[in-house]
Amino acid sequence: MCGIVGILSHQPVAKRLVEGLKRLEYRGYDSAGIAVINDNQLKRCRAQGKIVNLDDCLAHDHIDGTIGIAHTRWATHGLPTEENAHPHMTETVAIVHNGIIENHTALRDELSAKGIHCTSQTDSEVIAQWLTVFEKESDSYVEAIFKTLAKLEGAYALGIMFRDDPTHLYGTRKGSPLAIGQGSNGEMFLGSDALALAGLAENLTYLEEGDLAVLTKDHIEIFDKNQKQTQRPSQHYAGGFEQVSKGPYRHFMLKEIYEQPDVVRQTLNAYLSEDKKSIVFPELSFDPKTVSKITIVACGTSYYAGLVAKHWLEKVARISVEVDIASEFRYRQPPLSKDGVSLFISQSGETADTMAAHAYAKAEGQQTIGIINVPNSSLARAVNVPLMTYAGPEIGVASTKAFSTQLCVLAALSIYLAHQKGMITDADLEAYCQDLSTLPNLIEKTLSLSDSCKDVAEELAKTRDILYLGRGTSYAIALEGALKLKEISYIHAEGYAAGEMKHGPIALIDETVPIIVIAPHDELFEKLVSNIEEAAARKGQVVFISDEVGQKGYHSQAMARVTVPETSLFTAPFIYTIPVQMLAYYTAVHKGTDVDQPRNLAKSVTVE
Ligand code: G6P
Repeated sequence: MCGIVGILSHQPVAKRLVEGLKRLEYRGYDSAGIAVINDNQLKRCRAQGKIVNLDDCLAHDHIDGTIGIAHTRWATHGLPTEENAHPHMTETVAIVHNGIIENHTALRDELSAKGIHCTSQTDSEVIAQWLTVFEKESDSYVEAIFKTLAKLEGAYALGIMFRDDPTHLYGTRKGSPLAIGQGSNGEMFLGSDALALAGLAENLTYLEEGDLAVLTKDHIEIFDKNQKQTQRPSQHYAGGFEQVSKGPYRHFMLKEIYEQPDVVRQTLNAYLSEDKKSIVFPELSFDPKTVSKITIVACGTSYYAGLVAKHWLEKVARISVEVDIASEFRYRQPPLSKDGVSLFISQSGETADTMAAHAYAKAEGQQTIGIINVPNSSLARAVNVPLMTYAGPEIGVASTKAFSTQLCVLAALSIYLAHQKGMITDADLEAYCQDLSTLPNLIEKTLSLSDSCKDVAEELAKTRDILYLGRGTSYAIALEGALKLKEISYIHAEGYAAGEMKHGPIALIDETVPIIVIAPHDELFEKLVSNIEEAAARKGQVVFISDEVGQKGYHSQAMARVTVPETSLFTAPFIYTIPVQMLAYYTAVHKGTDVDQPRNLAKSVTVE
């Protein structure tokens, strides 16, 4: 959610701290700030709103130094004001914090009893105050930090600086990720994710739960949660600035929509054999022949990818599938069989609820698979079998290309398991693989519908409520389409199973309500058309998305028709996703909203 950058250097750091924050802005964008040590003093600059607002304050206050920490905030406790923005400081300590301190009220009361009063409404400021208390009572800064950590309940990634110790930068984590970056010429960095350090760090070291890193310009010392010195592996980091630029596109979201042919190709290449006739997976930690049930858990768009996969796994592999929202699953604590299989889908690999759901499944003795986009993320390191997607960094808050690549892995997994279980023959497997390998070109073709989507979007932008309908896998795409639209255009939208329309939503329909119909020409097509005719008869404004054959099969009035290329039943979800993404995108553009950073949302939800 929030983003952290820290730099310890021999050169001034303020400019690079702000650049790092700009790369992290997609994580949270309601306020930002930096603090440095300069002339034996802590200096700070904070601003409400976007990071660009920091530029003014920095130009005005001439704040700079060779050690500094910076933060972009997504408010959890306290309004998004300058006063609540990080870094939080006392006279001698500055901190930036990602996560939530659950016992902050008790810690604040304890401080009050000592006559120490917080100036912000955040849960984070107590950390700076307690560090200040313990700094005075400890023999070393490390001791002061561990004493403070012992008081904290909740989740944190922290960057810490002490005014009187300007040659050390401290970083620690529990429940929120933090990476250490080593530069080529005597510089050290802290980052809440690798992107913050793109173009800065040459090597990355990911901290484990409870670790405390003590950084000098050329040395990393790590203590584990038991305060014992330890080593963590370091790896080369090739991320450059170009990874996070918009290129010629107006928004990251549009760029990411257009990247889909490439990233789908890359992801399929990782799982299809070279001759495109079979599936190649890393060794699984369970016997694929005996899997009879899979529990899929995820949040947001990743959850909808899971809903599509339920159809594939049940129909093709005849494996029964339960799909659950992580925040529900983790507290419902469903009974799970020992050695059964759970599958977790997450673009970021850091979503707090998904992580907690995974921990529960692991504790129940399940074998866990992860479908994850960010290498080395917490989930990628925690699951038994990480199956990576190759979407590259996704910056737009509304997920697009990550979803398509999740579908690639889920489709590959479904046919792999189907084949292993003897549900499909070698020839069937080959046919499915061939079908998947046509997707990059088909998606490319579908992208050429952008003009017709733009026209429809102009009309959608004038409305207040929109209904998305589909059946089978298209019901999941309807849900995803509605989510995309409401996330970035702020128009109320609902996805519904078309067959359920008569049980409620039909009451909403009149001539002001567009109904986006996801209508592949499959075995449910006729039934879907009957549902839509009922809506059209009540003056619903139908936007009919189908292929040419499907368009001919729908005879009633339509406000618009979007004709996609012909697909197989199996690959339809990939293709029908593209117009719903474009409809959402262009509707938001017509409305003039902040497409890449919609209000109140964050890319990576690292708190409950
Ligand atoms: C947030 C993002 C969504 C994303 C969801 C799950 O809500 O805005 O785009 O689908 O989190 O994130 P994950 O990283 O676990 O896929």
